[in-house]
Amino acid sequence: MALSQSMTTFLRCLSPKGTELQATRSFSRIFRPGSRSGQGHSTCTAGCVTTLLQPRTLPLKPGCVQASSAAPAASMKADKPLTAQGEITSFEVNSKGNILNITWHDGQKSNFHSLWLRYSCNCKACLEENTGQRLYLCENLDPDVLIKSVEREGDNLVVVFRGKENHKGFVPIQFLKQYDYSSKALAIKKAAIEVNIYATEIPELTYDDVTQKEDGVYRWTKNLSDYGFCVIKGVPTEETMVTKMAEMIGPIQDTIYDDVFDVHVSDHQLTNVAYSADGLIYHQDLLYYESPPGLQFLHTLKFDDCVSGGESLIVDAFKVANEFRQSHPNEFEALATIPATFQKIHYGRSVPVHMTFTRPLIGLNAEKQIVGVHWEPAHEGPIEVPENRVEDFYRAHIAFAKAVKEAPVQFEWRMQEGDLLVFNNRRVCHARNGFVMNGGTRHLKGCYVNIDHFKSRVNVLSQKFGNGDLSKRVGNMCLF
Ligand SMILES: [Fe+2]
Ligand SMILES: [Zn+2]
Repeated sequence: MALSQSMTTFLRCLSPKGTELQATRSFSRIFRPGSRSGQGHSTCTAGCVTTLLQPRTLPLKPGCVQASSAAPAASMKADKPLTAQGEITSFEVNSKGNILNITWHDGQKSNFHSLWLRYSCNCKACLEENTGQRLYLCENLDPDVLIKSVEREGDNLVVVFRGKENHKGFVPIQFLKQYDYSSKALAIKKAAIEVNIYATEIPELTYDDVTQKEDGVYRWTKNLSDYGFCVIKGVPTEETMVTKMAEMIGPIQDTIYDDVFDVHVSDHQLTNVAYSADGLIYHQDLLYYESPPGLQFLHTLKFDDCVSGGESLIVDAFKVANEFRQSHPNEFEALATIPATFQKIHYGRSVPVHMTFTRPLIGLNAEKQIVGVHWEPAHEGPIEVPENRVEDFYRAHIAFAKAVKEAPVQFEWRMQEGDLLVFNNRRVCHARNGFVMNGGTRHLKGCYVNIDHFKSRVNVLSQKFGNGDLSKRVGNMCLF
């Protein structure tokens, strides 16, 4: 069934649509093979280094340290040809010697500081060859290091430094493009990973899509990166399948609810109200951890027709927060600056738990972009903040709760046996309608995967099967 006429429609899907969403491509921070543009040059001015147009070998100056090899170390390896975007037309060093200015083929200019360049040297003496780990450490860095000369050799810039050490190293031009920190480059890179794609219908793949097709896991993780959730249809209803599927993305993340948990009505003393037939309001899981679960996997093993209720709900917390910022700027500011307390204090367990973690409900980076949303009202404790912020906090909290509950785009549907719901617990909130068993059974098997493993998997698979796009922000408070 069609789910919405527009993004402002409340989405209620009782029968998930069978179409799958294609991954949407956007700006790539990783360079792909492409044609090289013609080389340009600059003229030498007083104190500046002239651009070399042709590769050549530099004579080693007295006092210079010869790099052990011209080959870059593993993780920084510039093993792809430059794209047109990555090509430079000229470069020069300023008269002081502390700035290398590069003009790219599109006319954009970037400055690289001598300290940055020295620390970023890609030679084997500075980076371990196989692992790419840094051998040249910050403690070795001469704070007054300057650039003596820069010349081009193929796709690298060979840089000779002066100061306490006269190191001769190099940085690939591709590396400079990738890590360009000009304000424009940073803005483009940050915009590319911003959460700005939202689902208008439930992203779905089939079990065969994921397990039988070469790019199946990539398409799965790409949906999770773009939309924050995805349903895999037709996963065999075996107890071990949820972990087998999860391990296709990353290792299982253990928690106080064990590595694998059963969501069903239990006769045992409750360790969490999820193990009852009660409804659960929108929330994220385990925000009282420093590193709350990343992906959550919920595999429907049994959901008898006679069970009434028990529908699953998803809302994109990032979308809610972005809209809340527009509609409630003051309350948004309060939630982004006043720390909330998340806690799990439960001594009546076989292993008592006393966990607290304090953080604002909305996390921002230096550019005020949203990098985290934290919403788990049932596990919030009393706030301990300056007196003049207490009322601001609760008023903003009440407003945000309303925004989550009344979000114009929500997904509500009844899981089918074999459905595997996977969502990014850092980005979306999930909920459940209460249910009545009527003599039947509702049994989901769940587990988590750490957010870092997920993000890494997206990036790696994107290199192989996609166009190199990095993961969208996953909500883990990464400040980039
Ligand atoms: Fe939950
Ligand atoms: Zn070096």
